[in-house]
Order: sequence, then C-alpha cells, then structure tokens
Amino acid sequence: MPVISFANAKGGSGKTTAALVLACELAEAADVVLIDADPRRPISAWSDLPGRPARLSVVSSGGERSILDEIERAASHAPFVLVDLEGTASRLASYAISQSDLVLVPAQEQHQDAQAALETLAEVKRDSQAVRRAIHAAVLLTRTKVAVKSRTARHISRQLRGHASIKVLETELAERDAFASLFSSGGGVRQLDTAEVNGVDKAVDNAARYASEVITLLREVRT
Ligand SMILES: Nc1ncnc2c1ncn2[C@@H]1O[C@H](COP(=O)(O)OP(=O)(O)OP(=O)(O)O)[C@@H](O)[C@H]1O
Ligand SMILES: [Mg+2]
Repeated sequence: MPVISFANAKGGSGKTTAALVLACELAEAADVVLIDADPRRPISAWSDLPGRPARLSVVSSGGERSILDEIERAASHAPFVLVDLEGTASRLASYAISQSDLVLVPAQEQHQDAQAALETLAEVKRDSQAVRRAIHAAVLLTRTKVAVKSRTARHISRQLRGHASIKVLETELAERDAFASLFSSGGGVRQLDTAEVNGVDKAVDNAARYASEVITLLREVRT
C-alpha cells in the first residue's frame, strides 16, 4: 500500500537509479509496482531487458491525466508502489506527490542538487497543505564517493544533515558501476554478473541497507 515517489526538479540527481534499486530490493520479498512517470521512459526501457524480478511490475504512466488512477489502481493491490518522476517540477509530479506516503528526494553532494532538493521539499510541503495530509519526505544522498569525499561534498552533507527540519537518510547510495550498469544489463544488483561488473557485493549490501532504512522510515511515518 505505501506509495513512494522519487522527486527532485534537478535533472540527473539519481531519481531513476534510486527508484530502480529500491524497487528490485523490495521485490525480493513483496509485490512491487514501479510507475514510470518520466516521458522519456527510462524504467520501461529497463523492463524490456532480461532479469526483471518476478515480483516487480512496471507501469508506463499515461501522464498527468492518468497518474492518479494509475497510483490508485496499483496501491489497491500491491504492498509497495514506487513512482519515478521526471527532472522538472510539473503538475504530474504534484499529483504523484499528493498521493505519496513518502517522497524520497535523491540529491548529489553538489550545490545545485542540494538547492533543488530544498525546493523540492518546499514543494512537497505545499502539496501536503493542498491535500491537508502529512506527506513525509527525506533526502537520499546519491552518487556519493566511497573513498575520499571532496570538501564541497562534506560541506553539503553536513549542511543538509545539520538542518533540524530536514530528514536525510543515514544510508547514502554510493557512486558504483554496479548501479549505473543496471540500465544496460537489466535486472537488479543481485542479478549482476560478478565477473563482468566491479563491486557487486558492495552494491548489494548498499541496496539492502537503503531498502531496510526506507522500510523503517515507512513504519515510523505510518504510526
Ligand atoms: N549511485 C550511482 N552510481 C553510479 N551511477 C549513478 C548512480 N546514480 C545515478 N547514476 C548515473 O547518473 C546518471 C543520472 O542518474 P539517474 O538517471 O538515476 O538520474 P535522474 O534524477 O533520474 O535523472 P532525470 O532527472 O534525467 O530523470 C545516470 O547515468 C546514472 O547511471
Ligand atoms: Mg530519471
């Protein structure tokens, strides 16, 4: 039943990757519907590749006229509904956010991404006021460096994490070949060929920690 949208008006912040990784991880144990609400259809293209987990179904959204029905239909039968949004603020994004239990805001540790994340959080707040219902949101730091972080990265991370009113997931989605390769290989990180892709085990561990933190957060926001 919980609906999770991935939003950040900044293009390329890591929304689609974060949505796909979470969807595949949740689909290990539950039915998941992943709605592709980006007109460029990155998730739909991925689902045409081999390896899609059996419990994950992908819906290509018809756009702002149908997104509310698509979410309602998916939420009526699937334990998890995820919505991947395009990288611009739009009515479609607001509709999806208005139906969400949780909005994840992927952001790289860069000034523009962080700024856009703050704007997205403000948008979630407005959508929440419009529907008179609490909509929880959390920033997910993406493409973070596993080795040494730059000064800027450390600064941005500290600033976001230091904000009392902003929830930032403890788990970061690190910059890894394994995550980037999903769009050409198909499947999730658990299906990757360890002989062909570096660091699959670390990516699997990262994906598992990320999914587990999201599930904990969902439990918190629903009580
Ligand atoms: N954790 C990661 N590790 C490695 N590469 C990543 C990671 N996250 C994203 N990328 C790469 O960064 C690029 C942008 O990521 P993605 O498509 O997920 O962003 P997006 O926010 O969905 O973009 P858009 O706004 O265009 O929809 C892609 O090439 C993707 O493979
Ligand atoms: Mg995307």
